[in-house]
Amino acid sequence: MHVDGTEKKWVILSFMMAFAMMGILAAYAINKNIHPPSNVETIDSTTLHLSEEFNEDNLGIEKENDGSYRVTMVAARYGFFPHDLKVPVGQPIKFRIASADVLHGVHTANTNMNTMVVPGYISEVNTTFPKVGRFPMYCNEYCGLGHDYMWSRLNVVSMEDFEKSLKEAD
Ligand code: CUA
Repeated sequence: MHVDGTEKKWVILSFMMAFAMMGILAAYAINKNIHPPSNVETIDSTTLHLSEEFNEDNLGIEKENDGSYRVTMVAARYGFFPHDLKVPVGQPIKFRIASADVLHGVHTANTNMNTMVVPGYISEVNTTFPKVGRFPMYCNEYCGLGHDYMWSRLNVVSMEDFEKSLKEAD
């Protein structure tokens, strides 16, 4: 088979471009530690209220032994619970989210908080909120007629205010 010289050059060039782009993607992902949510942990979505972790009394933020924080949250038509969440600024926080019914998503603009919440699985997001403020947390997977109204408030507050609110809660 005869391939014209110019054509051959372009074939080689286009392959090189494709590999270069794949290389850049891989280097960027490794460098910035970007990866898809990969926590494969199953749970029975129909009995969340009976589970130890996702029972209504245990939702919210908790301090771990290593000083980091853990937020336990339930997504259900149509809201995230707790509905009004207060978290400290600049602290590593691990979110653990389960759906009580159908597929939902959690998205908070200007943060790396963006995950699907698949019924039957626990979604995990590790993040640190860099700025104090009130941010809406939206559902970004169509989940029914009330999808547009499914959101909750995330209050990122200073460490001082956070500790104060903990004391008030006790
Ligand atoms: Cu939940 Cu859309």
